[in-house]
Amino acid sequence: MFHTRDLSMIYDMNTDSKTYALKGVDLDLPDKGLIGIIGPSGSGKSTLMYCLSTLKVPTEGSIVYNDTEITNVTSSERERLRRREFGFVFQKHYLVPYMSAIDNVKVAAAGSGSEADSKARKLLEELGLSEKEFSKKPAKLSGGQCQRVAIARAMINDPKVVFADEPTASLDHENAFKVMEMLKGYSGERLVLVITHDKSILKDADSIIEIWDGEISR
Ligand SMILES: Nc1ncnc2c1ncn2[C@@H]1O[C@H](COP(=O)(O)OP(=O)(O)OP(=O)(O)O)[C@@H](O)[C@H]1O
Ligand SMILES: [Mg+2]
Repeated sequence: MFHTRDLSMIYDMNTDSKTYALKGVDLDLPDKGLIGIIGPSGSGKSTLMYCLSTLKVPTEGSIVYNDTEITNVTSSERERLRRREFGFVFQKHYLVPYMSAIDNVKVAAAGSGSEADSKARKLLEELGLSEKEFSKKPAKLSGGQCQRVAIARAMINDPKVVFADEPTASLDHENAFKVMEMLKGYSGERLVLVITHDKSILKDADSIIEIWDGEISR
C-alpha cells in the first residue's frame, strides 16, 4: 500500500542546526494489518507517520500510496486523502469541547446526516460506549471514553489507513487494551499504524518497525 524510497526529512534546513529526522527510509507497508512503530523519543516516529499521511512534506525521497506518488500532490488531493482515505488518532483526543460524543464523531463524516448518525452510533457501541454517554460532552467522559470517541471519529469514513500516534499514552492499562483490541479488529481489513513507547500493547501486532535516529532498524 505504501512504498517509500530514500525518504529524508530535514528540519531547519536553512539554519546551522539542521536536524535529520528521517534518513533514507525505504519502507514497504501492506494493505492491511497492525503495524507497530517503536523507537526512542526524537527518533523520527511521528515525522514518518506525518510524511506518510501527507501532514508533512518530506525534504527528499518518494512516497507511493496505491500506485500514486503522493509526495508532492496538490492541496486538494491531500485534503481528499486525509478526509476520505486516512483516519487519525493522537495522544490527545482533540474532541470539540462543546459538542456531545456522538456529534464529535458525526462532524467528521463525509456522508449524509442520517447515515452518519447510525454509523456513529454503531461505532460508539462497538467501542463500548453506552447510549447515555452518546449525548455527554467530553468533560463529562473519562479519558478512556474520550479516546474511544476519537477512534470512532477516525473510523467514521471507513479509512483505508488508520494513523495512531501514541493512542494509548493517556490511558490506563484496561482502556489501552480496549483501544488496541478495537484497532486490531479493524486491521483485519485495513492498515493500522500505531506509534507507541509501550511495547506491551503491540503483542498482537503483525509486524513492528523500529526507528533509531531517523533510520529503520529491523
Ligand atoms: N517542527 C520541527 N522543527 C524542528 N525539528 C523538529 C520538528 N519536529 C520534530 N523535530 C525534530 O526531529 C526529530 C524527530 O522528531 P519526531 O517528533 O519525529 O520524533 P518521535 O520519534 O516522534 O519522538 P517522541 O517519541 O518524543 O514523540 C527530533 O530530533 C525532533 O527534535
Ligand atoms: Mg512523536
